[in-house]
Amino acid sequence: MHILGIDVGGSGIKGAPVDTKTGELLAERIRIKTPKNGEPEPIAEVVKQIAQTFNWNGAIGIGFPAPIKGGVTMMAANISEKWVGINADALFTTITGCDCTLINDADAAGLAEMSFGAGRGQPGTIILLTLGTGIGSAIFHHGCLLPNTEFGHLRMKGQDAEFRASDAARQRENLSWEQYAKRLDKFLKRMENLFWPNLFIIGGGISKEAENFLPLLTTETPIIPAQLLNQAGIVGAALAARTLP
Ligand code: BGC
Repeated sequence: MHILGIDVGGSGIKGAPVDTKTGELLAERIRIKTPKNGEPEPIAEVVKQIAQTFNWNGAIGIGFPAPIKGGVTMMAANISEKWVGINADALFTTITGCDCTLINDADAAGLAEMSFGAGRGQPGTIILLTLGTGIGSAIFHHGCLLPNTEFGHLRMKGQDAEFRASDAARQRENLSWEQYAKRLDKFLKRMENLFWPNLFIIGGGISKEAENFLPLLTTETPIIPAQLLNQAGIVGAALAARTLP
């Protein structure tokens, strides 16, 4: 099945048609800057522009940085507050004229890694964390996703964990790898003591630099980098449009 996968992020909106059987992109991905303020209509217009560039009129899967319940965006951390409580699924479908399905962006990345990347064939409980502007999370048990976990908003030192341990925090505060690993370690240990996972997968742009910080972490649970890098969100969004009603 061929589905257009879109990954909506705080800084860029990326998309490409995906072969959902193989997880391969059928064309080079397009990236357009996220419109300033990240408001609903301008973002939906960018998705339409990407669909038009590919001459697309089939199904579209959209990974979005918020929990999604029945197509409704429930919360907004790194995007405009205007998304809260709106039927984003219906908005994208109306503006693009295509059948759109929404999924949380980290859940999308998790689906892709479980099907085609680092999580393939891995048993037990797996937690994928995307470290980027925020911290996204996806938890799987024997391959089954429990959607909309928002572990990045767990409180640490009175602040959201993502404010302290995302890649954006590392860059904003100019942290050394040692300093950053210490913070991430605390967050991972919190996860470890709550969920007792069999494996952590670390995704997001920072997974390219895994060798700089993974060896500094001290959790008992094995930790491996994601494999699909910046394609995971696109591929997983397409998979969601295939599997969700
Ligand atoms: C959002 C999550 C999202 C994560 C990564 C968080 O701020 O609340 O829904 O998955 O950022 O984009």
